[in-house]
Formats: sequence, C-alpha cells, structure tokens
Amino acid sequence: MKFSHEWIEKNPWLLIGLVVLVISIGGLVEIVPLFFQKSTTEPVAGLKPYSPLRLVGRDVYIREGCYNCHSQMIRPFRAETERYGHYSVAGEFVYDHPFQWGSKRTGPDLARVGGRYSDEWHRAHLDNPRDLVPESNMPSYPWLANAQLVPADVTAKMRAMKTLGVPYTDEEIAAGPAQLADKTEQDALIAYLQGLGTQIKTRN
Ligand code: HEC
Repeated sequence: MKFSHEWIEKNPWLLIGLVVLVISIGGLVEIVPLFFQKSTTEPVAGLKPYSPLRLVGRDVYIREGCYNCHSQMIRPFRAETERYGHYSVAGEFVYDHPFQWGSKRTGPDLARVGGRYSDEWHRAHLDNPRDLVPESNMPSYPWLANAQLVPADVTAKMRAMKTLGVPYTDEEIAAGPAQLADKTEQDALIAYLQGLGTQIKTRN
C-alpha cells in the first residue's frame, strides 16, 4: 500500500503511537546529553554534601510542603539577580535528591536565603510569620520547635544519599546521629535554610 499521511491520521492508535515515539525521541535528545555534561554533573567549587543536620532539615522542608510556595532557582534575569543574588547554576544542586527548584512563587525564592537573616529571625518567622511580616500569608509552623529529632534516623538517610552518589564516607555516616542530639526539627530546618546558596558568592 502506498504510504499516505491521511492513512496515519485516520488510524487514531497508530497516530498516538507515532506521536509518542516522536516526542520520546525529542525528549531523549534534549535530556540525555545533560547527564553527561560536566556543568550539570560536577559540583561547583566548594560545594559540600549536606551535613547530617541540614539533610534532616531538608526532609522537614519537603514534608511541610515549603516548595509549594517557594522556588529555589534564580533565573538569569536582572530583576531576579538584583533581588536574590547570583543566578543559580546546575553544579550547586548535584547533591540534591530530589532537587527543590520548583516554579511556584507565592513567597520569595529561597535559593540564596542562607545567611540573609539570623537564626532568631527564622525561629520567630517559622513560629508565626506575621510577627515579623504583618501582611504575610505564610502558614505558621509552631510545632517544629517542639519536635525532637530521632538521631538514629539519619543513618539510613545518609546511606540512601550515598547510593545516589553523594560522597559520604562511612565515618561521616557513623558520626551522623551524634550531631543531631538534642536538636529539634526547627533547628534542622533553620540549619538547612542558612546554608542555601552560600556555596558560591551570594551577592553580585
Ligand atoms: C502558603 C505559601 C507558603 C508556604 C507553604 C511557605 N511559605 Fe515561606 N513565605 C511565604 C510568603 C508569602 C513569604 C513572604 C512574607 C514573609 O516573609 O513571611 C514567605 C517568606 C519566607 C521566608 C523569608 C524569605 C525572604 O527572602 O525574605 C523564608 C525563609 C520562608 N518563607 C521559609 C519557609 C519555609 C521553611 C516553609 C515551610 C516550612 C515555608 N516558607 C512555607 C509563603 C509561604
């Protein structure tokens, strides 16, 4: 039978199959090279894996859904770099599993919030944002200050990260729980926030 485009268009399943095929090839061509490109797979100079406390804080961030209102990716536009600092680069995120780039910005981008406020500011802000920013619509997270961490839990988290390529040594993993003694979820979350984006120069 002579090939005719009309014939494809009249066979919905064939059309769907071919559309999926074309899109997958297009996707693979765009995405696969990134896995092998140095700038996306190599950490920026000075980037260290999350400390045990920050790693746990990151999980609190994810559990509480902070990413629903906060992105962690500064785009290379003047309006963004003036406000937040140097735009984000891929090598800053190689130890993020999963990454927290996001796109929803009900609140400000947090990619470089580390060091911008004091720990005390964050405590007050997490307990009740309106105490500091009266018009804020960010929820309060007062329970975090009362939730003690379970230090032993971090061992499995660090091992999981290691299987994903984060270079924790066995000694670091063994020493993990001790760093969480007497810490709360709020301490961990603040430690996480205070390190965000500090690996490369924060203000341009
Ligand atoms: C419903 C949306 C929403 C959620 C969920 C939310 N925030 Fe916010 N956040 C905001 C808004 C709006 C602001 C700006 C006003 C303010 O500072 O309170 C903000 C501000 C902030 C700031 C100050 C940023 C700056 O540059 O001034 C930090 C830090 C922050 N949020 C952390 C968090 C963390 C951590 C969580 C999760 C525990 C969280 N937010 C959840 C909406 C949200």
